[in-house]
Amino acid sequence: MGERRPLIAGNWKMYKTPAEAAETARQLVERVTGVNDVDIMIAPTFAALEAVSRAIQGSPVALGAQNLFWEDEGAYTGEISAPMLKSVGCEYGIIGHSERRQYFGETDETVNKKIQAAIQVGLKPVFCVGETENEREDEQTLSVLDKQVKKGLEGLVLDQLDMLIIAYEPVWAIGTGKTATDDQAQEVHQFIRSLIKENFGNALSDSIRILYGGSVKPGNIAALMSMPDIDGALVGGASLDAESFSKIVKYK
Ligand code: 13P
Repeated sequence: MGERRPLIAGNWKMYKTPAEAAETARQLVERVTGVNDVDIMIAPTFAALEAVSRAIQGSPVALGAQNLFWEDEGAYTGEISAPMLKSVGCEYGIIGHSERRQYFGETDETVNKKIQAAIQVGLKPVFCVGETENEREDEQTLSVLDKQVKKGLEGLVLDQLDMLIIAYEPVWAIGTGKTATDDQAQEVHQFIRSLIKENFGNALSDSIRILYGGSVKPGNIAALMSMPDIDGALVGGASLDAESFSKIVKYK
């Protein structure tokens, strides 16, 4: 405990052309040069990966993808594989984001295959979990997370998981301006860490980074990061602007 290096990640979703993305990436690099106590990642659209990869070269900012397919190659129109993402410079891959589960039919089973595919090529999976508003109101939060975490990691063994990152994003807090309170987030993060402990042991549960996502802003990041089981953030809206994202990166 206490040894986990924070990760502040920006999910740019379906925003920005390659030129706009590269420009924001350049502005971000200017503002975070010299930051060396936090890992920083941005995930632009697939179309912008190459341009952003060039813009962040030699900087502390790393590249991530927003999704991937589990086969390396084949007749899968519209998909992109983990080795392809590696080849354009991705270090991370966001997997199972709630928007993908909601609009594109992702299930715990497809998420599991994608996590395996990412790990196989050394792409760090940012495995997203989170309950909907109805599930929270029905007091299903912990049981939903239990299922998502266990099924998402089914069949994986301890020595494959050292590069795994989990992101807890309550669906009701995404893009709504409603953040989970620090205590609500901490309760769930602690629960997720206990699931990792139960399934994979102490060492992994102590070292795994669990990010919080859902309306993270410059004004609420410090309080979230002061919680013992919150190790970083997955930021949507506030990551699209270099100035606000750099303030989140420099929350200390
Ligand atoms: P917002 O920060 O816009 O709420 O989005 C969170 C998110 O979905 C990041 O993956």
